[in-house]
Amino acid sequence: MKLLSKTTLAALALGIVAAAPAARATDVVSLRGDKALTAESDAFDRKRAMTASGGFDRAWDLQPPTIPHNIDNDRITIRENTCLNCHGPETFKKEKAPRIGDSHFVDADGKVLETMNQRRHFCSQCHVPQADVKPLVENTFGGN
Ligand code: HEC
Ligand code: HEC
Repeated sequence: MKLLSKTTLAALALGIVAAAPAARATDVVSLRGDKALTAESDAFDRKRAMTASGGFDRAWDLQPPTIPHNIDNDRITIRENTCLNCHGPETFKKEKAPRIGDSHFVDADGKVLETMNQRRHFCSQCHVPQADVKPLVENTFGGN
């Protein structure tokens, strides 16, 4: 396929913007409301994390298990990861926590590593806590 030049792409993009109906900011309501980005948002209700002894059931095989405890005090930054204080290979026994999954030690080429693959550093990319809330949209998903 012939590549489009940058100018053609820019022209196309402009055309799309011009053709779309003017977006109304007030139609979009996020957790911080429809306040201007420069304005301070109202505080929103922090949801209480649900707990489940033994963990929550998985909805399908290989689903990243959801987190059955509160993580408000956990920190995942470029320098630290407090989840590994309990789930890491050196700590899980002492903390009586499940060890990070075997897949977390495999790199993109399928090679098994001695330490966790750093692609797994940001746990909450895949693992999320649960809250007892009304779904935002109707959902008929059933799981296994
Ligand atoms: C103070 C120790 C501790 C810390 C810190 C901690 N966890 Fe846990 N976690 C546990 C324990 C203990 C369980 C098992 C609870 C149970 O099954 O009753 C658990 C369960 C889980 C599970 C469920 C596993 C399964 O197979 O169902 C996931 C996922 C998880 N934690 C992820 C995290 C993530 C992500 C973080 C950081 C944001 C974190 N945990 C921080 C102790 C901890
Ligand atoms: C790219 C997605 C991804 C990331 C990032 C990730 N996980 Fe997982 N995790 C999974 C999947 C999928 C599973 C289920 C398959 C398995 O056990 O390997 C899993 C399984 C687990 C389990 C359960 C293991 C078992 O034997 O039941 C724990 C505990 C866990 N992860 C903790 C963590 C922690 C802590 C981090 C961050 C250091 C993390 N995970 C990062 C996807 C991820």
